[in-house]
Amino acid sequence: MKLTVIGTGYLGATHAAAMAELGFEVLGLDIDPDKIAMLSRGHLPIYEPGLDELLQRHVDGVAGSTGRLRFTTDWQEAADFGDVHFVCVNTPQKRGEYACDMSYVESAVESLAPHLTRPTLVVGKSTVPVGSAERLAERLAALAPAGAAAELAWNPEFLREGFAVEDTLHPDRIVIGVRSEEAEKALREVYATPIGAGTPLVVTDYATAELVKNAANSFLSTKISFINAMAEVCEAAGGDVVKLAEAIGYDDRIGHKFLRAGIGFGGGCLPKDIRAFMARAGELGADQALTFLREVDSINMRRRGHMVEMAREACGADGSFLGKRIAVLGATFKPDSDDVRDSPALNVAGQIQLQGGQVTVYDPKGMENAARLFPTLTYAASALEAVRGADVVLHLTEWREFRELDPVALGSVAAVRRILDGRNTLDPQTWRSAGWTFRAMGRPRV
Ligand code: UDX
Repeated sequence: MKLTVIGTGYLGATHAAAMAELGFEVLGLDIDPDKIAMLSRGHLPIYEPGLDELLQRHVDGVAGSTGRLRFTTDWQEAADFGDVHFVCVNTPQKRGEYACDMSYVESAVESLAPHLTRPTLVVGKSTVPVGSAERLAERLAALAPAGAAAELAWNPEFLREGFAVEDTLHPDRIVIGVRSEEAEKALREVYATPIGAGTPLVVTDYATAELVKNAANSFLSTKISFINAMAEVCEAAGGDVVKLAEAIGYDDRIGHKFLRAGIGFGGGCLPKDIRAFMARAGELGADQALTFLREVDSINMRRRGHMVEMAREACGADGSFLGKRIAVLGATFKPDSDDVRDSPALNVAGQIQLQGGQVTVYDPKGMENAARLFPTLTYAASALEAVRGADVVLHLTEWREFRELDPVALGSVAAVRRILDGRNTLDPQTWRSAGWTFRAMGRPRV
């Protein structure tokens, strides 16, 4: 069985490389020739731990590779090659709207379908509004030449950035939405590899498969906003949200994961996914069911503003950023990624700069992307350089490198030893004993 993967972003590049790792012949397609040229040399346009190595191991033409993975921009080549075609293109938020932009998914199906010449299965992996698969199945059937017998299935992907390879090779579950036994059989065959061994496989209809992804991301977002709401109450009451999260998490119905309070969630998935879900529920007349997600979103966005206010207060009694130097540690929306899409860290940095602060940012992997998006911020080559001369240090992305910083060394270059932890991953005691005024979100001041 040969596979094609359409779209070579985080999802597609990882899926293609992981499938090659499992022994499949894979052809990746993207409409961006520069991306394809780079991938064909075995290089990744993004930073994702372990993925470069996987590409090097399988991309055809790389010395010593298995040659099982190739890339193209040619739809006919992809149609001829694949028995199963995975659609892995992105579904970003529409500008100025909650709804997601389905144009890349639609165009993938519309570009592939006319070239199909034999029975094939097209499998959507992108996160889409419920009802999309049904519509795309009709489009596929209408556009595929007579006799090509193209069928659609929905197989949402749950990978996290920073763990994309691990999550793809060892998923918690596999969900497939199908309409026929043949489609189910073909997907079972794809996953009858180490991926599938021991992994729960849920077979369902299109709508449920689409909704599983919407529901999972909504639940995760709700968990983060819940603990951030508790952080607000803790701050008002003098409580400690970190201890609170630890204590409630011991109840295994609640669990410890996704209960880290701070400046909230960002990235290319959670924020836009909950908004698209609300928009779709509205179209379906079920908007009341998801009004709580509006609150989840607004608690989350409020965190960014709250960090700006904490930084302003830390700058001194006159309540102004003017003439103050702010060091920002972190630019990406999460660690182990170079992704700065909807990054809370950069949002906070940008707001402070707009209000007159002199902001210097350092991030282990996200500097290039950050500089493209926020070219007017100052960027430093290291955490130490960012902190040099700073009146306040803000810890905004929870990289391991920042947990391992030496507060004594940083203290010797800072203008004022004052740090705000926006991720609750630094150890207050270590910083305080090095002479820093340390404040964290949702935790008591000392
Ligand atoms: C998310 C989902 O986890 C994944 O299953 C889905 O396929 C895509 O969207 P990702 O966007 O990679 O994955 O990030 P995730 O690890 O979920 O973190 C999202 C954001 O929440 C980050 O900004 C992170 O810093 C923040 N976060 C996470 C918290 O603020 N607190 C937490 O406890 C956990």
